[in-house]
Amino acid sequence: MVIAIDGPAASGKGTLARRLAAYYGLPHLDTGLLYRAVGAIVLAQGRLQDEAAAVEAARTLDVAALDPDTLRTAELGEAASVVAARGGVRAALLDLQHRFAAQPGGAVLDGRDIGTVICPKAQAKLFVTATPEVRAERRHRELIGRGEDIAYAAVLADIRKRDERDSARAAAPLVQADDAVLLDTSALDIAQAFEAALTIVEARRRGS
Ligand code: C5P
Repeated sequence: MVIAIDGPAASGKGTLARRLAAYYGLPHLDTGLLYRAVGAIVLAQGRLQDEAAAVEAARTLDVAALDPDTLRTAELGEAASVVAARGGVRAALLDLQHRFAAQPGGAVLDGRDIGTVICPKAQAKLFVTATPEVRAERRHRELIGRGEDIAYAAVLADIRKRDERDSARAAAPLVQADDAVLLDTSALDIAQAFEAALTIVEARRRGS
C-alpha cells in the first residue's frame, strides 16, 4: 500500500507519516528533506538563486547521507522552498521518489506533491492542514527545542511566506488532490490526529 501525505509546513504531516509507517511496517520518505538538502548545498555555495547549480545538486544528491537533524532548520526550510520552485530540480528528484514508492509492499511518502504528482495512484491520500498560527506555534516550539534562537512572529511570517511560495508556484504547487481526504489538525493532539489518519487510511484499504 502506498500512502501519500501532503500539506503545508508544520501541519503535522511528518509526524503522521512516521507513525503510519511504523504502524503498517512500511518505509517512509520525508521528501522535504530532499529539497532541504539541495537548498543546503547551493546555500553553502552562495548560489541559492542559481537554477543550474540547484539542478546539479539535485541530480547528484546522496540520499543515504541526508541528516534530518542538520536539515530541519528555519533557514533551510526557506532555502528548500526557493529551489523547490524550480521545475528542473523537481524533475531531477522524481526518479528516486518513484523508486522509493515502488518498493514491494509499498511506502509512505510525505511532502507537497505526493498525491498529485509523485504517486497519483496512491491507495490512500491525506491532505493534512492546520491554521497558520497553530502551525507556527508547533514549529516555534520545535525550533526552540533544537536550540534555534527565533521569535514566534518570525516563524509565523516564514510559514506564511512559504505557504504563498509553495502554493503559487507553477511547478507542482501545493494543492489538495481531488481524491485526498482533508485532515485539519488545528484542534487535535498527536494521538487524536493519528487516530483520525488511521481511520482514513483504513477506510481506503477497505475500498470505501
Ligand atoms: O516539509 P518541509 O518543510 O521539510 O519542506 C521544505 C520545503 O520543501 C517546502 O516548503 C516546499 O517548498 C518544498 N517541498 C516541495 N515538495 C515536496 C516536499 C517539500 O516542494 N514534496
